[in-house]
Amino acid sequence: MSPTTVLDQVDIEGVDFAFQDDPDIHATLATLRARRDYAVVPFAGVRAVLLLTDELVSAAFKDEATFPAAAIYQMTTGPVLGKTLQCMEGQEHRVARGVATPPFRRKMVASQVEPLLEPLAHELIDRFSGDDSADLVAEFTTKYPVLVISRLLGLPVADEATVHRWAHDLFYFPLDPEAAMRASREFTEYVVPILQARRRDPGDDLISMLVTESAEGEFLDDEQILSFLRLLFPAGADTTMLALGNTLSALLTHPEQLALLRSDPDEWTQWAIWEGMRWEPPVGLLPRACPRAVAWRGISIPALTPMIFSINAAHRDPAVYERPDDFDITRRKTSMLSFGQGVHSCAGNWLAIAELTTALRVLLERLPDLALVQGSEDAAKVTSQVGVALRGPNALPVQWRRA
Ligand code: HEM
Repeated sequence: MSPTTVLDQVDIEGVDFAFQDDPDIHATLATLRARRDYAVVPFAGVRAVLLLTDELVSAAFKDEATFPAAAIYQMTTGPVLGKTLQCMEGQEHRVARGVATPPFRRKMVASQVEPLLEPLAHELIDRFSGDDSADLVAEFTTKYPVLVISRLLGLPVADEATVHRWAHDLFYFPLDPEAAMRASREFTEYVVPILQARRRDPGDDLISMLVTESAEGEFLDDEQILSFLRLLFPAGADTTMLALGNTLSALLTHPEQLALLRSDPDEWTQWAIWEGMRWEPPVGLLPRACPRAVAWRGISIPALTPMIFSINAAHRDPAVYERPDDFDITRRKTSMLSFGQGVHSCAGNWLAIAELTTALRVLLERLPDLALVQGSEDAAKVTSQVGVALRGPNALPVQWRRA
């Protein structure tokens, strides 16, 4: 008889955590968490262990030996993006991260990147502010983070529409793998000559830095640089797009919180961003894998078990947050789990925070009395995007008083 494992019994039926949107996902997660701090759930036709508390999710992120990021990313994003940071381990990961990520550190973001952000936010708002209503997802949130990345890389402004299309196709990889592979190929063909030119004649952009900097005496080769550049779109642009959409959705559906923010933007903007990411983290349910059989915190997990780190359940864990379901910008808490933890934690978190804070501030300044178009509450709700891991609103139909 084979030994018993955690997978012997499933805790919920009739929903697949890989594919199916659950409109009441927070209630489902709360019910499961009330029973036990983890659950066994259907996932892509098999069973997965879903971690539900702040303590377990945080511990699992930090335990790279038991749940190595590479085990999942080599299978999922590897074929499209190549061997990215997320597919690397140990020394190779340390060196690649050491070269690629210094520009995203807090001080560098403040001095080098922030000056880019405000003019870009204005540039996008200029395109629609002559009207008195718009869909902020179509007009702003989908565009701004892609343009930030594109300008950081120093790509020609004339190519931005094409770059935006590639970023879009890479994002929808699980729904249309062929388009994503094509986008990856086309982006690579486009960027290789730029990379070669910057090797010959470096400027002050991110690509020049990637070709000239080293860490622990090692430089990145072309393929390492290319995989990092490909990763920047799904990891850096789409996440930020969803985070901005989620915070705007939360504020627009909680007018009293929006009024508080407006009463003192200097005080409340950054807390609104952090609370938006706590309430609806863009990466809600992060898939991982457990390659080897292990007894982990009393859970007997067989080899090759899919794991799901539920950041969104951890963010509403009543052991950590009072009134966890309330969107309340006065909590003044930084929900760092939004960005993962441990060696593979987000390399761009300070960039993301700077982008989000600037965007929110400029949108509220430029669009006085910003509010949802009446009757649009359902359209503006946060929902699953491309499978259930990522969450954001499909649309944000808003109106404002024309100045
Ligand atoms: C609000 C926006 C963002 C969120 C919520 C977010 C979230 C995350 C999370 C949860 C991870 C860990 C994934 C894992 O452990 O499997 C991660 C990794 C990563 N993120 Fe972000 N991210 C955001 C913005 C950005 C930006 C703007 C960049 C641009 C530089 C970026 C670059 C990366 C990279 C390169 C990694 C991989 C790091 C590694 O494996 O060493 N992210 N992000």
